[in-house]
Amino acid sequence: MGPGTSTSATARPFFRTLGNTKLKLLAVFLTVLTILLLTLYSSGLSSNISPGAKDELTNEQDYWTWETRTQFRKPQHINDTDDTGRSQNGTCDTFPSDLLSHIQIVLKTSATEDPNRVDTHMASVTRCISNLLVVSDKETELHGHHVHDILADLPLSARNHIPEFKGYEALQHGNNIDGAAGWKLDRFKFLPMVERAKKVNPGAEWYVFLETDTYMVWDNLFRMLEQFNSSFPLYMGSPSPGRGVRDGKVNWFAYGGAGFVLSRAAVDTLVARETGEYGQFIGPSVTEQYMQVVKDDCCGDSVLGFALYEKGIELSGMWPMFNPHPLDSIPFGDDHHWCQPVISMHKSQLGDMIGLADWEDERDRTNPLLYADLVGYLRLGELPERKGWDNGAWGGIIEQPDTLSQHESLEACRQACHDKDWCMSYTYDTAGACVFVRSLKLGAASKPEIAGQFTAGWDNEKIQNWMADNKCEEPKWMKPSLTRIF
Ligand SMILES: *[C@@H]1O[C@H](CO)[C@@H](O)[C@H](O)[C@H]1NC(C)=O
Ligand SMILES: *[C@@H]1O[C@H](CO)[C@@H](O)[C@H](O)[C@H]1NC(C)=O
Ligand SMILES: *[C@@H]1O[C@H](CO)[C@@H](O)[C@H](O)[C@H]1NC(C)=O
Repeated sequence: MGPGTSTSATARPFFRTLGNTKLKLLAVFLTVLTILLLTLYSSGLSSNISPGAKDELTNEQDYWTWETRTQFRKPQHINDTDDTGRSQNGTCDTFPSDLLSHIQIVLKTSATEDPNRVDTHMASVTRCISNLLVVSDKETELHGHHVHDILADLPLSARNHIPEFKGYEALQHGNNIDGAAGWKLDRFKFLPMVERAKKVNPGAEWYVFLETDTYMVWDNLFRMLEQFNSSFPLYMGSPSPGRGVRDGKVNWFAYGGAGFVLSRAAVDTLVARETGEYGQFIGPSVTEQYMQVVKDDCCGDSVLGFALYEKGIELSGMWPMFNPHPLDSIPFGDDHHWCQPVISMHKSQLGDMIGLADWEDERDRTNPLLYADLVGYLRLGELPERKGWDNGAWGGIIEQPDTLSQHESLEACRQACHDKDWCMSYTYDTAGACVFVRSLKLGAASKPEIAGQFTAGWDNEKIQNWMADNKCEEPKWMKPSLTRIF
């Protein structure tokens, strides 16, 4: 269930793009009209408007511009006369480890996962999380962390009736099972994982859950959590549509791969059990209560969101700060990916996990890391044309009819992109298609079997001009929303 499955360029017909553009123009028109009317109206009234009402008007934006402060420490070795000790990456000297007692971080994995990925994650994203809680489907040790077999927390009587647990038994006896069998077990981990996190660190204010392909920008996550009260039942992440609830509505859950956060109050409500007159628990644990629901659903993140919903807690949708997409597909410079701080990304490539973690450590952390800053990591605006690369893999525009001259050659395609103000990059397919891309995107290597056909390039001059004209003056910390979705 990945929203990040790639669509080929040709799967985005021109008319659909046109339709979107028309809608966008209409939206822009209506917004401008509304602002105009409001301005006319309020200027007539401005002398009567109270300061409070004015504040309300300016607060209509869907973001906060909080002035936040990094919790990371200043690098100690910076010394004007000697910069040999400057590189802080590879160490945890600057990481704010003291926060870890009240922010419990939990990593979910499986014995069936690629060990390379787990190792890479633990050497980059989770490198400095000394009290990381690692949950899996088999007990083991990894890089100094105990790995908890979280499925052992499910009642044996229930497990015995679920065919998927044959795979689990095989794992316990030292046999290998394939990734598909591991994935079928994965959904059973979510609820016991939350219960275990509470047991391991009952005093935490926040519980943060990741998978081994989630990249987390800790600095931004810590900055954001400082702005919220953990006594509120908060459940934050990237919204994804889940189970049906009342009146034909769908429940939104936090997509697991993008990472999610639960406040202490949310966890307390979720794991609370009915208690009898002697203080003994008489109600089932949340894991037991939802065992059948999990069995009938595809996905544990969906059931977790549903259980929270049934206990009165709705998702605070934090897209695009929590992002279900990988770095190379992010459309930089669109309405959602520029001045917004980046908190998480999904499906990170191994090289990017290490690369980004090092890059972040070298970066000056005075300001939060915005999408606009990530362009520097990708070097967009400086990239030479690349063979075997596809910029349109995540959606591009192929103008019709296919007899247009830009479809004839790479040179014509490059020139035609250059001639359009909005075209930031292009991909030429020797089968006779020129694809224009409107947003700033890295794109990805083409499938090996067709790599010879594709060449991608960026209009660097236009990209640099656009960036110079669109510097971010303040961060846009997006307010929770379930209508703003990827
Ligand atoms: C900076 O480096 C110089 C030369 O290595 C050294 O003498 C000095 O003590 C250092 N200063 C600090 C504050 O570390
Ligand atoms: C730190 O990061 C830089 C740039 O990514 C890299 O060249 C260097 O090898 C890294 N150093 C360590 C100690 O990891
Ligand atoms: C957080 O909210 C709770 C409940 O509304 C309140 O009692 C508490 O004082 C708040 N915390 C802070 C730091 O204001």
